[in-house]
Amino acid sequence: MPITLKIQRSLEGKQWTQDYSLELEKGMTVLSALIKIKETLDPTLSFTASCRSGICGACAVRVNGNAVLACETPLGDLVKRYQSETLTIAPLANFVVLRDLIVDWKPKYTNLKKIKPALQPKDEFSAAAGCKQSPADFKKYQKNSECILCGSCVSECSKSTANSNDFLEPFVFAKAQKFVADSRDKDVLAHLDPAVKEGLWKCFNCQQCAAKCPKGLNPAEDIEKLRIMTFKKKMSSNAGSDHAQAFYDDIRDTGRLDETKLGFKTEGVKSALRVPFAYRLMKTGKLAPFEKTEVIPEIEKVRTILSAAKEVK
Ligand code: SF4
Ligand code: SF4
Ligand code: FES
Repeated sequence: MPITLKIQRSLEGKQWTQDYSLELEKGMTVLSALIKIKETLDPTLSFTASCRSGICGACAVRVNGNAVLACETPLGDLVKRYQSETLTIAPLANFVVLRDLIVDWKPKYTNLKKIKPALQPKDEFSAAAGCKQSPADFKKYQKNSECILCGSCVSECSKSTANSNDFLEPFVFAKAQKFVADSRDKDVLAHLDPAVKEGLWKCFNCQQCAAKCPKGLNPAEDIEKLRIMTFKKKMSSNAGSDHAQAFYDDIRDTGRLDETKLGFKTEGVKSALRVPFAYRLMKTGKLAPFEKTEVIPEIEKVRTILSAAKEVK
């Protein structure tokens, strides 16, 4: 079957889309198609890849807007999924593009270093004694060890798209959680503190990082775990954590969310700056500051759910 790949190209500030027609061969992946184009149609097409087996993370690109590992994604599956013999291939989003499908990882590694991505071993460990832990403790962060730094989660992250200046990449939070969860590490705050300072509470919770990670990691859940750890470590005194606490308190006390109190409890007197916004909400019926929030009749059931949730590790 003939197919067309519309590839986003860029070189020295110029950008264009170039069409390549080729025959869809049995078992052809996105990467093998790119290699075929480079070898037979256009040697100037540039992309990165190494292992060709889903291990090195170098080959991630976007197909029809979705991040995939090129070496592990059969083109035939995509043709079926999109019901089209024409597919677009572009570099990962939320990266600076160096050339064609090649993106710049340097700023991402700079961010990765911020959360100290290395074990801070407890004092009881030594070269002679080793650095052992139980299989159960290993399991607590095992999944996080499987990140291959492919960047798919970054490409899909809606918070990074909106503003990446005050937010670490999803895989960086996943890496921070890896060390926070490692029983051998003595300095949780070395990883947690920079995560808080660099946007831990700014995640939109859109779940795209979890949905698109080719290795099944769940950075969104790791962000939640790090947030819980901030409460355990009594680091919870910022707008994000105060908002979460105010939300929780309302639900526990009445079973309802009191939007009027929420703003004040989250931002204190600073919430006065939002009066024009509050006024607009009042006009649309979203906010009713003089209405008493009634306790729902089944509040005890809500409280039972909340205490059960607290027991979940
Ligand atoms: S859940 Fe958070 S970190 Fe994950 S993609 Fe959405 S905004 Fe980004
Ligand atoms: S968390 Fe998943 S999607 Fe993100 S870089 Fe690691 S392997 Fe890739
Ligand atoms: S080439 Fe290594 S993961 Fe695709």
